[in-house]
Amino acid sequence: MASVSTTTPGTDWEYAPAPESREIVTIQPEYNLFTGGEFVPPASGEFFTTLNPASEEPLARVAQAGEADVDRAVAAARQAFETSWGRLPGRERAKYLYRIARAIQERAREFAVLESLDNGKPIKESRDVDVPLAAAHFFYHAGWADKLGYAGFGPDPRPIGVAGQVIPWNFPLLMAAWKLAPALATGNTCVLKPAETTPLTALLLAEVIAEAGLPPGTVNIITGDGSTGAALVGHPGVNKVAFTGSTEVGKQIQQAVAGTGKRLTLELGGKAANVVFDDAPIDQAVEGIVNGIFFNQGHVCCAGSRLLLQESVADAVLDRLKRRLATLRLGDPLDKNTDIGAINSRQQLDKIEGLVAAGEAEGAQRWSPPCRLPAKGYWFPPTVFSGVSQSHKIAREEIFGPVLSVLTFRTPEEAVAKANNTPYGLSAGIWTEKGSRILWMAGKLRAGVVWANTYNRFDPASPFGGYQESGFGREGGRAGLAAYLDA
Ligand code: NAI
Ligand code: MG
Repeated sequence: MASVSTTTPGTDWEYAPAPESREIVTIQPEYNLFTGGEFVPPASGEFFTTLNPASEEPLARVAQAGEADVDRAVAAARQAFETSWGRLPGRERAKYLYRIARAIQERAREFAVLESLDNGKPIKESRDVDVPLAAAHFFYHAGWADKLGYAGFGPDPRPIGVAGQVIPWNFPLLMAAWKLAPALATGNTCVLKPAETTPLTALLLAEVIAEAGLPPGTVNIITGDGSTGAALVGHPGVNKVAFTGSTEVGKQIQQAVAGTGKRLTLELGGKAANVVFDDAPIDQAVEGIVNGIFFNQGHVCCAGSRLLLQESVADAVLDRLKRRLATLRLGDPLDKNTDIGAINSRQQLDKIEGLVAAGEAEGAQRWSPPCRLPAKGYWFPPTVFSGVSQSHKIAREEIFGPVLSVLTFRTPEEAVAKANNTPYGLSAGIWTEKGSRILWMAGKLRAGVVWANTYNRFDPASPFGGYQESGFGREGGRAGLAAYLDA
């Protein structure tokens, strides 16, 4: 499958195909559960198929963990907490974390190709963002493991116990790293459940963890759907629950955990405003808008999905944005020139199509560059809605796809009011030349992360998390350690 430019074919220079080889990764036909330090068949006897969303080709059969399997994983984690990992001094834990970080770097190409195959994201993103950031999270937390007494939580902060961790499909390896690295650095043991459409890189990470020689049961990786996730978060042997995913499931988990004494952090959806003022460097802002909403096909909780343009520059910015979008290349995720890959699943594509239809029905103007979509697989063209009002569904609900809703404003006060007019509160972007305005805006925006003259920048030292329906708790930095310490 070739990557095709969204410009009209024949009228432009064409790129030659530049596919990354998939030979580097060996995908097994079937994967078991990783519990107690080894891969074991599921007691349930059940398996499901994960596929490549760019081609609908099945990649592997993966174990569906049932209640007995969750039990076994939690028991293994408990034992490791009480007898091995939980008793190691921080400097010993650090060695293992450094080992995992280095192994991710050594096997970076393998991880990147596997991630793009299972998820549909462009190889340049899995190679340059997901995998290096996953390694960075292990390096960063390895550094903390023997210094927790200096992190501001008292001289000898204690771990919580067994962490049950459930992650989504948009950044499969990276979310696994976000969950495991801080939990392990602080001395907890883990049972992690990857999402059902993207389990493969977590299973490769299980292999890395086994090779790194962590005490058996320190990390357990169990695959399955929402029922496995529900069994894990509801298990009485779990002391701490960490979830990233939809607000709907986050609310269910909050109810399930209420009154049990379990600690909980939730990282949920978003509907971020990306605010462009008339004094912003326009070309730079256009790059930031593109990165904000078309990075990872818009499957990003902190995506800049609501673009707020100051009225005096709105037409000029939209013009340049459309010209820029016509140069994006959509197609084969393994092609190194691809900018936009496949939508992760049929279910997600249906959701995007439904919300886009609602946008048209409510009267917003829909635009996409000329774009040929591959015949097989799940695809959606980069899409911009202008003439959007705050009451429109596409201005209120998380679309989680390559769809941008454009609104306008006249004054900074109006920009703040519109940006904050959302039940979410995860992230926001500001584009302006004035430092004073950046600070003023950052103080008024109700969002956990505010980017200024950039967007979608991540660093393990920088805490990430939301307000309101975007959840609570922080991941990364010193604040992220607190979620795994009995402090
Ligand atoms: P989801 O929230 O159902 O799935 C996330 C994870 O939770 C998966 O591992 C899933 O197996 C697990 N899960 C599902 N039900 C569970 C339950 N009752 N208890 C415990 N774990 C459970 O998200 P889904 O269905 O994949 O996507 C639906 C919508 O959610 C998307 O269209 C998108 O708008 C939003 N979403 C937001 C994410 C974010 O990071 N903000 C990530 C994924 C989805
Ligand atoms: Mg898949």
